[in-house]
Amino acid sequence: MITLNLNGTEHQLDADADTPLLWAIRDHAGLTGTKFGCGLAQCGACTVHVDGAPVRSCQTFLGDIEGAKVTTIEGVSGKVAETVQTVWAELDVPQCGYCQSGQIMSAAALLAETPKPTDDDIDAAMSGNLCRCATYQRIRAAIHVAADRLEA
Ligand code: FES
Ligand code: FES
Repeated sequence: MITLNLNGTEHQLDADADTPLLWAIRDHAGLTGTKFGCGLAQCGACTVHVDGAPVRSCQTFLGDIEGAKVTTIEGVSGKVAETVQTVWAELDVPQCGYCQSGQIMSAAALLAETPKPTDDDIDAAMSGNLCRCATYQRIRAAIHVAADRLEA
Protein backbone atom coordinates (compact mmCIF):
# COMPACT_ATOMS: atom_id res chain seq x y z
CA MET A 1 0.00 0.00 0.00
CA ILE A 2 1.19 3.47 -0.88
CA THR A 3 -0.21 6.70 0.47
CA LEU A 4 -0.75 9.44 -2.07
CA ASN A 5 -1.79 12.95 -1.10
CA LEU A 6 -3.67 14.06 -4.19
CA ASN A 7 -5.42 17.42 -4.39
CA GLY A 8 -5.63 17.59 -0.61
CA THR A 9 -7.01 14.08 -0.08
CA GLU A 10 -5.03 11.07 1.12
CA HIS A 11 -5.49 7.96 -1.01
CA GLN A 12 -4.32 4.49 0.01
CA LEU A 13 -3.33 2.85 -3.24
CA ASP A 14 -2.76 -0.83 -3.85
CA ALA A 15 0.23 -0.04 -6.03
CA ASP A 16 3.97 -0.65 -6.16
CA ALA A 17 6.57 1.95 -5.27
CA ASP A 18 7.73 2.03 -8.88
CA THR A 19 4.28 2.83 -10.24
CA PRO A 20 4.37 6.08 -12.21
CA LEU A 21 2.43 8.89 -10.58
CA LEU A 22 0.56 9.46 -13.85
CA TRP A 23 -0.93 5.97 -13.64
CA ALA A 24 -2.09 6.60 -10.08
CA ILE A 25 -3.68 9.90 -11.06
CA ARG A 26 -5.50 8.62 -14.13
CA ASP A 27 -6.23 4.96 -13.38
CA HIS A 28 -6.43 4.79 -9.59
CA ALA A 29 -7.91 8.21 -8.85
CA GLY A 30 -9.78 8.59 -12.15
CA LEU A 31 -8.56 12.12 -12.80
CA THR A 32 -8.08 12.37 -16.55
CA GLY A 33 -7.15 16.03 -16.95
CA THR A 34 -3.48 15.05 -16.76
CA LYS A 35 -2.50 13.56 -20.10
CA PHE A 36 -0.22 10.81 -21.32
CA GLY A 37 1.94 11.90 -24.21
CA CYS A 38 5.36 10.29 -24.49
CA GLY A 39 5.83 8.47 -21.18
CA LEU A 40 9.48 9.52 -21.28
CA ALA A 41 9.50 12.92 -19.55
CA GLN A 42 9.93 14.61 -22.91
CA CYS A 43 6.62 16.25 -23.79
CA GLY A 44 5.20 17.76 -20.59
CA ALA A 45 1.60 16.60 -21.19
CA CYS A 46 1.63 14.86 -17.81
CA THR A 47 2.88 17.85 -15.78
CA VAL A 48 1.53 18.14 -12.22
CA HIS A 49 2.83 19.89 -9.11
CA VAL A 50 4.64 18.03 -6.35
CA ASP A 51 4.93 20.36 -3.37
CA GLY A 52 4.31 23.22 -5.78
CA ALA A 53 7.03 22.34 -8.29
CA PRO A 54 6.22 21.12 -11.80
CA VAL A 55 7.14 17.49 -12.42
CA ARG A 56 6.56 15.01 -15.22
CA SER A 57 4.25 12.52 -13.60
CA CYS A 58 5.02 9.79 -16.18
CA GLN A 59 8.55 9.55 -14.80
CA THR A 60 7.81 10.29 -11.13
CA PHE A 61 7.33 7.19 -9.01
CA LEU A 62 4.99 6.76 -6.08
CA GLY A 63 7.70 5.46 -3.76
CA ASP A 64 9.67 8.67 -4.22
CA ILE A 65 6.88 11.07 -3.31
CA GLU A 66 5.20 9.57 -0.27
CA GLY A 67 4.33 12.42 2.06
CA ALA A 68 4.48 15.02 -0.72
CA LYS A 69 1.48 17.01 -1.88
CA VAL A 70 0.48 16.29 -5.46
CA THR A 71 -1.74 18.76 -7.30
CA THR A 72 -3.31 18.17 -10.69
CA ILE A 73 -5.17 20.48 -13.04
CA GLU A 74 -8.40 19.43 -11.27
CA GLY A 75 -7.14 20.57 -7.88
CA VAL A 76 -4.89 23.51 -8.61
CA SER A 77 -6.17 26.66 -6.92
CA GLY A 78 -5.14 30.04 -5.63
CA LYS A 79 -4.81 33.43 -7.27
CA VAL A 80 -1.95 32.57 -9.61
CA ALA A 81 -3.44 29.36 -11.01
CA GLU A 82 -6.90 30.86 -11.30
CA THR A 83 -5.56 33.91 -13.13
CA VAL A 84 -3.62 31.69 -15.52
CA GLN A 85 -6.72 29.66 -16.31
CA THR A 86 -8.85 32.76 -16.80
CA VAL A 87 -6.34 34.36 -19.16
CA TRP A 88 -5.89 31.05 -21.03
CA ALA A 89 -9.62 31.06 -21.78
CA GLU A 90 -9.76 34.77 -22.65
CA LEU A 91 -6.89 34.48 -25.10
CA ASP A 92 -8.17 31.19 -26.58
CA VAL A 93 -4.78 29.60 -26.02
CA PRO A 94 -5.72 25.94 -26.60
CA GLN A 95 -6.19 24.47 -30.05
CA CYS A 96 -6.78 20.71 -29.70
CA GLY A 97 -6.19 21.11 -25.97
CA TYR A 98 -4.27 17.91 -25.39
CA CYS A 99 -1.10 19.54 -24.03
CA GLN A 100 -2.83 22.36 -22.24
CA SER A 101 -3.27 21.08 -18.70
CA GLY A 102 0.47 20.48 -18.65
CA GLN A 103 1.09 23.94 -20.09
CA ILE A 104 -1.11 25.54 -17.44
CA MET A 105 0.59 23.65 -14.61
CA SER A 106 4.02 24.73 -15.82
CA ALA A 107 2.88 28.33 -16.35
CA ALA A 108 1.33 28.53 -12.88
CA ALA A 109 4.50 27.16 -11.28
CA LEU A 110 6.59 29.68 -13.24
CA LEU A 111 4.47 32.65 -12.14
CA ALA A 112 4.45 31.49 -8.53
CA GLU A 113 8.27 31.53 -8.58
CA THR A 114 8.88 34.41 -11.00
CA PRO A 115 6.03 36.92 -10.94
CA LYS A 116 7.39 39.01 -13.83
CA PRO A 117 9.05 36.55 -16.21
CA THR A 118 11.00 37.67 -19.28
CA ASP A 119 10.63 35.87 -22.61
CA ASP A 120 13.80 33.98 -21.74
CA ASP A 121 12.35 32.96 -18.37
CA ILE A 122 9.22 31.74 -20.13
CA ASP A 123 11.17 29.81 -22.74
CA ALA A 124 13.29 28.18 -20.03
CA ALA A 125 10.32 27.23 -17.88
CA MET A 126 8.10 26.08 -20.73
CA SER A 127 10.61 24.38 -23.01
CA GLY A 128 9.70 20.94 -21.66
CA ASN A 129 6.05 21.38 -22.62
CA LEU A 130 5.55 20.55 -26.27
CA CYS A 131 2.51 21.53 -28.29
CA ARG A 132 1.80 19.77 -31.57
CA CYS A 133 -0.59 22.57 -32.46
CA ALA A 134 2.18 25.15 -31.98
CA THR A 135 0.30 27.44 -29.61
CA TYR A 136 3.61 28.72 -28.26
CA GLN A 137 3.05 32.37 -29.14
CA ARG A 138 -0.33 32.42 -27.42
CA ILE A 139 1.12 30.64 -24.40
CA ARG A 140 3.85 33.23 -24.08
CA ALA A 141 1.38 36.10 -24.52
CA ALA A 142 -0.96 34.59 -21.94
CA ILE A 143 1.82 34.27 -19.37
CA HIS A 144 2.68 37.96 -19.82
CA VAL A 145 -0.98 38.99 -19.51
CA ALA A 146 -1.39 36.84 -16.40
CA ALA A 147 1.76 38.36 -14.88
CA ASP A 148 0.47 41.90 -15.54
CA ARG A 149 -2.90 41.07 -14.05
CA LEU A 150 -1.39 39.50 -10.95
CA GLU A 151 0.81 42.55 -10.46
CA ALA A 152 -2.08 45.03 -10.79
S1 FES B 1 3.85 11.92 -20.93
FE1 FES B 1 5.14 12.63 -19.37
S2 FES B 1 6.47 14.01 -20.34
FE2 FES B 1 5.34 13.13 -21.98
S1 FES C 1 -3.10 22.56 -28.18
FE1 FES C 1 -2.90 20.75 -29.39
S2 FES C 1 -1.08 19.84 -28.67
FE2 FES C 1 -1.12 21.77 -27.72
